[in-house]
Amino acid sequence: MPAPTLLARDVTKSFPDRDGAGSTPVLRGVSLAVHPGELVSIVGPSGSGKSTLLHCLSGLEAPTSGSVEIVGTPLTGISAAALAKLRREHVGFVFQSYNLISSLTAWDNVALPARLARRRVRAEEVDRALAHVGLGDRAHHKPAALSGGQQQRVAIARALAVERDVVFADEPTGALDTAAGAQVLALLREAASGRRAVVMVTHDLEAAATADRVLVLRDGTIHAELVAAGAAQVLDAVTRAAAQV
Ligand SMILES: Nc1ncnc2c1ncn2[C@@H]1O[C@H](COP(=O)(O)OP(=O)(O)OP(=O)(O)O)[C@@H](O)[C@H]1O
Ligand SMILES: [Mg+2]
Repeated sequence: MPAPTLLARDVTKSFPDRDGAGSTPVLRGVSLAVHPGELVSIVGPSGSGKSTLLHCLSGLEAPTSGSVEIVGTPLTGISAAALAKLRREHVGFVFQSYNLISSLTAWDNVALPARLARRRVRAEEVDRALAHVGLGDRAHHKPAALSGGQQQRVAIARALAVERDVVFADEPTGALDTAAGAQVLALLREAASGRRAVVMVTHDLEAAATADRVLVLRDGTIHAELVAAGAAQVLDAVTRAAAQV
């Protein structure tokens, strides 16, 4: 088996309490490995720590303890500049709320990561990324002139325009109707190929079941792991996790 794209060992995360006197653990020791080409989904009850886990795995937030490596490079114990570089070069993130820049066209939003990395923007790559998500004819629209599903597809084009090793998506279909959600899901499914892996958090159990592996999070730990599961199996595992049996 090739080296993992993403490797987490015993990741914990605690947030300080409001009074500053103590802290509340949210992640209580999560270990996982994701390999090239894999699509992994993470499900679990609200508040179980899914978003926090995704933030720690992608370097958006630092874990309290434990380690995360992306393509063999640790995210912890490196400088902020080195972390930013690693994230720019290897990591994509798709948010539930799209996070597009409203003053920029779809084209400029997709070109933004390359510009931020001070890399030459290859117009044909941006064109290809937009065409790939079916938005070749919307390149010069600003986000406000696009539907939710179209905006999310721009966000996916942005995450995929540069070759990334791992793309994280937090509830990427959460704000979309069924048809638009299915399109976004198909794009993420397809994105998980070659050396690229995709890790997706979702409440949609049908969506989760399309993954190669489903991790069920409960109370900050991985409660169950399902391989090539159907929606019914995922529902059963999530129900068990929620019922704390
Ligand atoms: N920055 C923060 N400061 C303090 N507590 C936080 C912070 N971020 C998250 N939490 C707490 O951590 C717990 C897990 O939150 P998280 O957002 O990871 O859950 P989730 O599984 O993504 O839930 P949902 O399905 O509702 O999105 C919650 O109790 C939340 O209040
Ligand atoms: Mg969340």
